[in-house]
Amino acid sequence: MESFPVINMRDLEGEERCATMELIANACENWGFFELLNHGIEHELMDEVERMTKEHYKKCMEKRFIEFADMTLDDPDTENIDWESTFFLRHLPTSNLSEIPDLSDDYRKMMKEFAVKLEKVAEGLLELLCENLGLEKRYLKNAFHGSKGPTFGTKVSNYPPCPRPDLIKGLRAHTDAGGLILLFQDDQVSGLQLLKDGHWLDVPPLRHSIVINLGDQLEVITNGRYKSVMHRVVSQSNGDGRMSIASFYNPGSDAVIYPAPELVEMVAGKSSEVYPRFVFEDYMKLYVEQKFKAKEPRFEAMKASF
Ligand SMILES: [Fe+2]
Repeated sequence: MESFPVINMRDLEGEERCATMELIANACENWGFFELLNHGIEHELMDEVERMTKEHYKKCMEKRFIEFADMTLDDPDTENIDWESTFFLRHLPTSNLSEIPDLSDDYRKMMKEFAVKLEKVAEGLLELLCENLGLEKRYLKNAFHGSKGPTFGTKVSNYPPCPRPDLIKGLRAHTDAGGLILLFQDDQVSGLQLLKDGHWLDVPPLRHSIVINLGDQLEVITNGRYKSVMHRVVSQSNGDGRMSIASFYNPGSDAVIYPAPELVEMVAGKSSEVYPRFVFEDYMKLYVEQKFKAKEPRFEAMKASF
């Protein structure tokens, strides 16, 4: 079987460029996931983000989580529960970093710096995707723009050891709703899995890498050429727990999303357009209710909405 796609961004600068672009295209078409090395974010910064995130969890989140955990283990209905401790930061269109309680000034400043760098990686990647798709370089960025520009946010999660991993998932299976997702995950504790050809495969933890996956919006805009793929987090019963920092580069709330006309072909006199046209925030309203269900009924429901 093919192994999980790992892209060394440095190879885009030299003779390997063509082959590397092809690897990216193949990953987008067949995996919905790939892992980036040499993405340009300093390893020292990533180490600090990891250290301070774990420290913040111990100091400010752990007590609350243990209370939740005690309640959860007594609950007979564990199927609809995720064994995770999270908080959200929003960077674009406006930052809410100053409103999040409990963050130290240093941690706040560092997360801001990290987000600015991730935003650059995301925008660079969108351009590479456009190149592979034969779209104008800024097509995807523009498609996400709406009236206020893209939405960019970060979900900081900790997955503490779970005494009953047989009963409770870290995070139940889902596809991501948005555009491009950039994940900085623990390199010690695995747990993230994606569904490929009917099998759950581990996303291998790789030190200082950034895992990329494509959300539902990119599947729609590419008219299904690229895939938004189901993934989940399996909880672990031992170790120190897993840290994951997922950043979401998404369309603006009023952006109108639809398949790029260049990617819609006429086949035997009929349009190959199979995806709906909708306003992104309308999709999100539906997604909130249906996150842990298959994406196809969501696309069907949106067809009726516009
Ligand atoms: Fe996800």
